Amino acid sequence: MRKLLGMVLVLGLISVLSVSSPAQVKKGKTRVLTTKQLMSGLVKPQCGSLGEALKTAPTDDKGWEELATKAALLNESSYTLMDDGRCPDGEWAKASTQLREGSAAVLAKIEAKDAAGALEAFKGVTASCATCHKAHKK
Ligand code: HEC
Repeated sequence: MRKLLGMVLVLGLISVLSVSSPAQVKKGKTRVLTTKQLMSGLVKPQCGSLGEALKTAPTDDKGWEELATKAALLNESSYTLMDDGRCPDGEWAKASTQLREGSAAVLAKIEAKDAAGALEAFKGVTASCATCHKAHKK
């Protein structure tokens, strides 16, 4: 009887875990931020305004600093995407690495005040959006 009860508990736990795992795409395990909020509040605005701004090279240090901030925030979001049990699979992990490496490459070009190089490196950032959305954005 005890053994049976143990089996039932284990099976129950397995079914709870398997039902709750798909939700990790939409939100982490413990923190409040949803993936939708991360995208609409941080990733999209920083990516959109960075892409727009890179079309014309900044004319002063303040302009370059603003670009560096956008690239660094995108880089940081690649870590949030992997934290708190949010990552469901290899495609997600691959896209997060693309975002991390792409934004770091853009930042390096911005620090060198190389606008053309930054625009070229920015392709790595936008490739990451496509990789992840193809697999995980319904
Ligand atoms: C590792 C995965 C991943 C990466 C990388 C990623 N996204 Fe997303 N994105 C998602 C998921 C998942 C959703 C759907 C979230 C939902 O609706 O619950 C989403 C939704 C969005 C949305 C819709 C938000 C809304 O309000 O409904 C926008 C805009 C967006 N992403 C922009 C971007 C841009 C721009 C990039 C690249 C710089 C990017 N995303 C990279 C996973 C990713």
